[in-house]
Amino acid sequence: MVDTHAHLTEEVYDADREAMIASLSCDGLKYVFTVGYDVESSKKCVELAEKYENIYAIIGIHPENCQEYNASVREQLKQWCTHPKVIAIGEIGLDYHYEGYDKELQKKVLLDQIQLAYEMKMPIVIHLRDAVGDFVPFMQKHHNLLQYGVLLHCFSESLESYQIFEKMGFYVAFGGTVTFKNAPKVQKVAQYVPLDKLVLETDCPYLAPTPYRGQINYPKYVSLVAQKIAELKQCSLQVVLEQTDQNVKKIFPKVK
Ligand code: NI
Repeated sequence: MVDTHAHLTEEVYDADREAMIASLSCDGLKYVFTVGYDVESSKKCVELAEKYENIYAIIGIHPENCQEYNASVREQLKQWCTHPKVIAIGEIGLDYHYEGYDKELQKKVLLDQIQLAYEMKMPIVIHLRDAVGDFVPFMQKHHNLLQYGVLLHCFSESLESYQIFEKMGFYVAFGGTVTFKNAPKVQKVAQYVPLDKLVLETDCPYLAPTPYRGQINYPKYVSLVAQKIAELKQCSLQVVLEQTDQNVKKIFPKVK
């Protein structure tokens, strides 16, 4: 199993990070991808990936932090991209959820990081929240920059939206949300998505799956996401695990 989206750098893990990482293989996890959302967290992700064989880093500036993006940040991201354990640019995207967002700035920062990913021949990991109406035409317009792969993390849009992304060849990841009782929309999409376009994630420490909802999330709970997907798709857990592991290698060619 691979947890393709974790935030291992978060303070909440300070007390038990070492132990948590040491037990990953016992928990059935081959790799965990730790994801940055600003310069500071991206830097910590690279350090963790350097320290631990089973950790890879994904680095980037989240739309909520787009004010911090500038030419020197871009240069720093570019440098990290040459690191063998840095496998993608993310999480980047659009997020119109909280008051005060700047749509134009978010799009500008997203486009610049997409261009960087293209230059570096890297896939991108997308965070999308309350902005699908802008995101679809944006990605269609810049489709020529997306040939190194797109993963939509924590997918929570409608089936109709997914079908547009399906045509564009995007991969999707579902996390703990798919296990929630009140998430029929997400479950419907998970049921529909072809197994060869799907990977697993936790987004830990956030969004712990049932029965840990509301508590701190850990990479090991990715097995609960896998179980739920197997149940929704009426296939065996083994099939989900094997196929998603194969997909990881397709999306992230730097992963051994
Ligand atoms: Ni995240």
